[in-house]
Amino acid sequence: MAVIALKCPAIEVCVVDISVPRIAAWNSDQLPIYEPGLDDVVKQCRGRNLFFSNDIEKHVAEADIIFVSVNTPTKTRGLGAGKAADLTYWESAARMIADVAKSDKIVVEKSTVPVKTAEAIEKILTHNSKGINFQILSNPEFLAEGTAIEDLFKPDRVLIGGRETPEGQKAVKALKDVYANWVPEDRILTTNLWSAELSKLAANAFLAQRISSVNAISALCEATGANVAEVAYAVGKDSRIGPRFLNASVGFGGSCFQKDILNLVYICECNGLPEVANYWKQVIKINDYQKSRFVNRVVSSMFNTVSGKKIAVLGFAFKKDTGDTRETAAIDVCKGLLGDKAKISIYDPQVTEDQIQRDLAMNKFDWDHPIHLQPMSPTAVKQVSVTWDPYEATKGAHGICILTEWDEFKALDYKKIYDSMQKPAFLFDGRNVIDAEKMREIGFIVYSIGKPLDPWLKDMPAVA
Ligand code: UDX
Repeated sequence: MAVIALKCPAIEVCVVDISVPRIAAWNSDQLPIYEPGLDDVVKQCRGRNLFFSNDIEKHVAEADIIFVSVNTPTKTRGLGAGKAADLTYWESAARMIADVAKSDKIVVEKSTVPVKTAEAIEKILTHNSKGINFQILSNPEFLAEGTAIEDLFKPDRVLIGGRETPEGQKAVKALKDVYANWVPEDRILTTNLWSAELSKLAANAFLAQRISSVNAISALCEATGANVAEVAYAVGKDSRIGPRFLNASVGFGGSCFQKDILNLVYICECNGLPEVANYWKQVIKINDYQKSRFVNRVVSSMFNTVSGKKIAVLGFAFKKDTGDTRETAAIDVCKGLLGDKAKISIYDPQVTEDQIQRDLAMNKFDWDHPIHLQPMSPTAVKQVSVTWDPYEATKGAHGICILTEWDEFKALDYKKIYDSMQKPAFLFDGRNVIDAEKMREIGFIVYSIGKPLDPWLKDMPAVA
C-alpha cells in the first residue's frame, strides 16, 4: 500500500488495522517490520496520501477499492486441521464491509486464499448488500520479504482476476489503472477469478519444489562426493530451468511456502485428487527431512552427543534481510538440538530474544498428523541464550550452526572465533555462505550442505 501511495499521488491510501499498537508503530519512527527501503517510502508519503488508522469503519465506508490483507493461517482445529486455510478473519472482514458500506465497492483479495474463496466472499457480501454492488477481484501478491520494495517497483507481473461479466471487467480495469501508474501494461495480466487464486498457490508450490529438488540432490551429493553448487550451476545453465532459486539450504521457511502447499494439498484432496495431493506433499516432506538431516549431522559428528555442549546458532530469521521467523528452519533445528540436550546460544542481527523464546516455546503443529506436540519444557527453554554479539555467541562453543545467509557472516573474524572455541571446533554451514577451505585451514571441521564431506564426517555417519 505504501508503494501504491508513492507511485499514485492522486490516490489516497488508508491502511486500517484493529491493532492499536501496530497502527501507532506505523505512525511512528520505528515501523513494526524491518524491510529494506520501506522506511523511505513510508516517510515520503505518510501524511500526504498515505494514512494509518484504527478507524476501520469510517475508512472502509469511504473507500472505492478495499484491499483485504488479513492473515489466513493454517487451521489448527476441526475440519481440515493442519492443511486448510483458516478464513475466519476473511469472513469477518467481509461481513464488516457489507455492514458499513453505503456505496458500491471493489473488494480485492490480497491475502493468499484457497481457490474459490472469492465465491464465498461474494455470497457473504451479496446476501448482506442492501442493494449495494460489490465486485470481488483476486490480486495475489508475489513480493518476497527482504526485497519487497524492489519487487513492487519492478514486478515480474501483476495478476488481476475478476468476473467475466461487464461489471467484473469494469472492476478489473479500475484496478489495472492503479498499477498502470508504474507497471508496464504487458506485465499486468488479467484472468478469471479462479485462475488468479490458483496461480498464487501454484507459483509458491513451484518455487518451493525447486528448493526441495535441489535439497534432495544435496543429500545425494554428500553420499557420492558430488558438489551441489556445481550440480546446481550446471543444471541452471539450461535456459529452460534457469539459475535462480537453486541454492541448497537447511530448508525453506517463511509464512508462505509451507502454508500454501498445505492449502493446495487440501484442495486436491477435497476435489478427489489424492495423487496430486501426495505429489505436492512430498515437497514439504523433503523440507522436513532436510532439517532433521542437518540436526543428525551435527549430533553424529560431535561423537553422537551434544548433551551439555554449547552450540552457537548464527542466524534465526527464515532468510537474510528480514527479522521474520515464521516457519524458519532455525526453529526445527534448535528444537532438534535441544532434544539432544544441547545448550544453544543464538545470534541474529534482526531477531529479538523475546521472539526467539516465543518461537521455541510454541507448540509445533505437525502438519501430517494434526495433534499438538508437547510444548517445550521451561527447562529446555532455559538451555537457550540470545545475544547481540556473534563473538559472544560462539565463545566457548563446541560447534557453530549457520542457519541464515546474512552477509555479515561471511566477514566475521573466524580465526578469533576458532581460538575462543572448544576443540575440535565444528562449523556446520546450513546456507553455504562461508569459504569452507579457508575454515579448514584455520582448523575447523566443516560441514557444508551438499558439498564433499571432511574425512571426519565420513567416519561419523548420521544415522537416525
Ligand atoms: C515467497 C515467494 O518467493 C513470493 O513470491 C511470495 O509472494 C511469498 O513467498 P518469501 O517467503 O518472502 O517469498 O521468501 P523467498 O525468497 O521465496 O524464500 C523462501 C525460503 O526459501 C527462505 O527460507 C529461503 O532462504 C529459502 N530458499 C530460497 C532456499 O533455501 N534456496 C533458494 O535457492 C531460495
